[in-house]
Amino acid sequence: MKLKDTGLTEAELKAKAKKYIIETYERFDFIADSAKGVYMYDEKGTPYLDFYAGIAVNSVGNCNERVVKAVQEQAGTLMQVFNYPYSVPQALLAEKVCTTIGMDKIFYQNSGTEANEAMIKMARKYGVEKYGPERYNIVTAANSFHGRTFGAMSATGQPDNACQIGFGGMTPGFTYAPYNDLEAFKAACTKNTIAIMIEPVQGEGGVNPATQEFMTGLRKFCDENDMLLLLDEVQTGWCRTGKFMSFMNYGIKPDIVSMAKALGGGMPIGAICATDEVAKAFTAGSHGTTFGGHPVCCAAALAAIEEMEDKNLADNAAKMGKYFTEKLKALPHIKEVRGQGLLVGVEFDGVKAVDIKHKCFDRKLLITAIGDSVIRMVPPLIITEEDCDKAFEIIKAAVEESVG
Ligand SMILES: Cc1ncc(COP(=O)(O)O)c(C=O)c1O
Repeated sequence: MKLKDTGLTEAELKAKAKKYIIETYERFDFIADSAKGVYMYDEKGTPYLDFYAGIAVNSVGNCNERVVKAVQEQAGTLMQVFNYPYSVPQALLAEKVCTTIGMDKIFYQNSGTEANEAMIKMARKYGVEKYGPERYNIVTAANSFHGRTFGAMSATGQPDNACQIGFGGMTPGFTYAPYNDLEAFKAACTKNTIAIMIEPVQGEGGVNPATQEFMTGLRKFCDENDMLLLLDEVQTGWCRTGKFMSFMNYGIKPDIVSMAKALGGGMPIGAICATDEVAKAFTAGSHGTTFGGHPVCCAAALAAIEEMEDKNLADNAAKMGKYFTEKLKALPHIKEVRGQGLLVGVEFDGVKAVDIKHKCFDRKLLITAIGDSVIRMVPPLIITEEDCDKAFEIIKAAVEESVG
């Protein structure tokens, strides 16, 4: 649907949204009427350079032709069946995901937070059944973000954040340790700890990549203590960090990994992948979902992964990530430029991130701000050096104007 087909003005549409939608977002003040590749367009056709990609979702580009075709064909063939029969897209996607990232089994969900719920539930059930009723605790990282349902919220190590305040008590069974501090993680584990759960790069926490030492240290520690390593790759997964999954950058493998965002090429899908041994914790009735494994979303995801492979998007993310990161170091007033592949953050010194975000928006560049001082760029992975140059010039002008 486009605005011109409704007979409404821009102001009228916005008024309806404001009247009827429960608002929890700080909106970009425009109507996203259509999108293609690295651009979004308002109802007048004004292009906006998209360096947030639905927050790391539209990795194969907005309205990617292959994904659109897969969605259209599947929607006209078989739309929703629950999980009683087999379906072609589900089975083919399962094989593609597991063989591509070297895991044994998949369980489908609909979103990142749901994928993390499944990951937490599987780890807890594995622990309780294998070692006894007390062994279900999970150590996660301070400043992490794992989603907005209760298990994922409770795993999130941000007790002072609006995402946790005012909801009453959190789900028990989680403790937090400082990110990238291997000794602190070891110290936080007890005889009742079954797993350690982290993001390979903290996205919402300000774009903080795990060090190699931390990742290999956690893997070794988990192996030595019969504990599971759970990786939340909802934001980092599917080529964003220069490999299919971020854990491949570290040469380690998790026991369970969660994914969502980029997997569906713009359609909502989440999943966990687990080893055969850990996956056995889920049996008939122990977990389930009405929409998880939806044929249209699975067909979209299959098309998205094929597109990632054919266009070498992991390599492009690595190459463009390096190019863009190096370039951003020339910005004024920066404290640090950090990230992995095309998950890029810039921390500023004395300039408000939200001001930069607004001033970029005025210049038709879409980026996000995290906290007071970090801007984050997660563009489609199809971007070129020219797109990076354009974004850089806009951010530079925005910073200069913010400083005054
Ligand atoms: C690392 C991580 N985990 C989980 C989530 C939650 O995903 P969703 O919004 O799809 O529920 C996010 C969302 O930003 C995320 O970045």
